[in-house]
Amino acid sequence: MSRTSLPSWKALLSHADEIKQAHLNQLFDNDNLRFNKFSIKLSSLLLDYSKNLVTEETLAKLVTLAKECDVESWRDKMFSGERINSTEDRAVLHIALRNRDQHAILLDGENITDQVEDTLEKMRTFSLSIREGHWKGYSGKRITDVVNIGVGGSNLGPQMVTEALKQYSDNSLNVHYVSNVDGTQIAEVLRPLNPENVLFIISSKTFTTTETMTNANTARKWLVSSSFDDMAVEKHFVAVSANKENATEFGISEHNIFDMWDWVGGRFSLWSAIGLPIALDLGFDKFIELLEGAQELDQHFQNTPLAENAPVILALISVWNCTFLGAQSQAILPYDQSLHMLSAYMQQAEMESNGKSVTWDGVEVDYSTVPSIWGELGINGQHAFYQYLHQSNNVVPADFIGSVESVTPVKGHHETLMANFFAQTQALMNGVDEQQVREDLKAKGRTADYIDKVAPHKVHKGNRPTNTILMKRISPRTIGSLIALYEHKIFVQGIILQICSFDQWGVELGKGLANKIEAELCSGTINPAHDSSTKELINYYQSMKNVNP
Ligand code: F6P
Repeated sequence: MSRTSLPSWKALLSHADEIKQAHLNQLFDNDNLRFNKFSIKLSSLLLDYSKNLVTEETLAKLVTLAKECDVESWRDKMFSGERINSTEDRAVLHIALRNRDQHAILLDGENITDQVEDTLEKMRTFSLSIREGHWKGYSGKRITDVVNIGVGGSNLGPQMVTEALKQYSDNSLNVHYVSNVDGTQIAEVLRPLNPENVLFIISSKTFTTTETMTNANTARKWLVSSSFDDMAVEKHFVAVSANKENATEFGISEHNIFDMWDWVGGRFSLWSAIGLPIALDLGFDKFIELLEGAQELDQHFQNTPLAENAPVILALISVWNCTFLGAQSQAILPYDQSLHMLSAYMQQAEMESNGKSVTWDGVEVDYSTVPSIWGELGINGQHAFYQYLHQSNNVVPADFIGSVESVTPVKGHHETLMANFFAQTQALMNGVDEQQVREDLKAKGRTADYIDKVAPHKVHKGNRPTNTILMKRISPRTIGSLIALYEHKIFVQGIILQICSFDQWGVELGKGLANKIEAELCSGTINPAHDSSTKELINYYQSMKNVNP
């Protein structure tokens, strides 16, 4: 049955028409308990969603929608290992990776907690031996630099977390990431490094991703050309993969392969051995704290009634803003330097999961699904695109994410940063009307002509919805909770929108075509069947290759 025929869906559609007439500042004027009603305090963070166009009636209707969509039973199916990734016939069990009380989780009769714990133990001993210098390279020297080669989920999660928790690293190792097949990146990363001290992690669930394999082969050549020894690969390469066969064929010793499982999706995999660079950088204990932070959120998600459940609320607010009120994009705006990769991470997490337009039954949806996700560090964004957030005729709901304390306090900076953090959501909500603009200009002694000319440009309509997420301070635990909060939000969004959030067929089409075109570029031929644009672009590329600059 289509979501649009649910009674709650219909009720929300007509409620949306009413609420479009309201203004957020009226809602606040009418109810001084708004913050209390529309915020959730967890041990690791505070979520304030009161600056959204919602009333108690909206919330009740949204929660009814969640109930009518069976969010609770889908959640329970996920936690109990049912194959809810229906198009790939797989379970979705990233929650099993942070099951710190180690309760049994059965998949096809097997307790996967044992496999998870074995891999964690392998990560613990490995990270210790690298960090303490017991593991030696081909010439007997210790490892000083780790290069993680992977893309998408095998890059964004670990790199985002490594960046977020930089201040927690003791710098016993330098951790680098290579994701792009543009040779510039790997060349730049390898240039200052000495092969004798480098450990490569080839991070690929499938061990077939072309870009990753190209980078892995380049890294292997770089090592072998300096060591003159194929055997060096064993001491300088490890893999994280579900495809042991390909990894061993590449030359990685079976002992140096860390398991991945088909019940972990790439974009939800940083909690697995895909997070090995995090453990190497921070030490294994801090990696465990990251998992514990995520588990706290898992427990909250599993045990809290829908109306007080932070990821459920975030998902409902997103569906409300996008599907019912028509917003088409969503900004992620961290006010914490350490979260500078968060929006890139969130793009994959949400858009690869829910950027789809057929239901899990293969029926085209007749509503808009998820927004496009974009963003930047708050302060930098303020001096770049916030103009658009305040005054364009597109409303962009935004998540503001900040910390009470800086991990790197520098006198006076944090207050300036956070003053902007609070001011922006207030300004986006309240705006400023023409009368106020005129009064302000008059008070400044401006002439009537000047006021007439400038006033329309200074009007801000406000009424722009925002969520605010405030953490005490960035730490492995709070980052774990923050990421898990968004993972579960995305899950609930998918359920409400009837989308299979765990496949990514949309990335296949371009990949397949690229393989064919690569053969043409390498052989200097052009397939005459291409459309005229593609044909002429390839023709231009090939002819310009032979022209001297
Ligand atoms: O972009 C498609 C994708 O399959 C992602 O879902 C995945 O995270 C990424 O490629 C990398 O895949 P792999 O880990 O198999 O190399």
